[in-house]
Amino acid sequence: MTRPTIVAGNWKMHGNLGMAENLAEAIAAGASESKAKLIVCPPYPYLDAVVRALGDSDVHVGGQNLADQPDSGAFTGEVSGTMLRDIGCWHVIVGHSERRSLYGESNEQVATKFGLARDAGLVPILCVGETLEEREQGQMESVLKAQLEAVVRMHGVDALQDAIVAYEPVWAIGTGKTASPDQAQAAHAFLRQQVAAHNATIAGVLPILYGGSVKPGNAPELFAQPDVDGGLIGGASLKSEDFLAIAAAA
Ligand code: G3P
Repeated sequence: MTRPTIVAGNWKMHGNLGMAENLAEAIAAGASESKAKLIVCPPYPYLDAVVRALGDSDVHVGGQNLADQPDSGAFTGEVSGTMLRDIGCWHVIVGHSERRSLYGESNEQVATKFGLARDAGLVPILCVGETLEEREQGQMESVLKAQLEAVVRMHGVDALQDAIVAYEPVWAIGTGKTASPDQAQAAHAFLRQQVAAHNATIAGVLPILYGGSVKPGNAPELFAQPDVDGGLIGGASLKSEDFLAIAAAA
């Protein structure tokens, strides 16, 4: 089964208007060199400017989060999936480990957001991953299973059709301690097996991205793994030359 190769940049809370526009323009200029599907996820205030800066390139824009409430309402400070779609987003990151650890998002809240993203016409990028402590205690598989099953339990396995999963070991995010290709492949294969237990066809086409200190130097070996379908890139996505070099490795 063929799966798209996807390289998505999570800009997190970085940049300003000028940087966002310049970075988007540089990525758009180099996008045609990459066979991978490129996605950039800027901070909310810069979404419109980045959509405009990307112009008619086929680089997609995604949100980094969305409200756990639909459409609109008295939810000060929140941004709905409908609003993200309205501004030109096609994707949205859901359940990033920083949302889970810093803002207390539970598996159930992440699953709710996953469903609202789909309802708004967005492709959810569901982030899962274990902490170093959980890995050292042999809990990686149970943690990943719980994070994935919360979505399947709430919405059914068909909800993973046209979705993206990103395996981001928390201990590799922003640390420079990238998972080895074998570690990444083992986690991705486990995730794919978990989906296959519900529906083998969906498992076969589900893109599973790796995230956690991906750099131009380590991307080729990571992306060469059979169950790694690209990357979700943090720090290295803030420099167009690094992001495009990673995309070229896909
Ligand atoms: O969402 C991607 C991010 O968590 C990975 O960050 O800086 O380790 O590439 P980084």
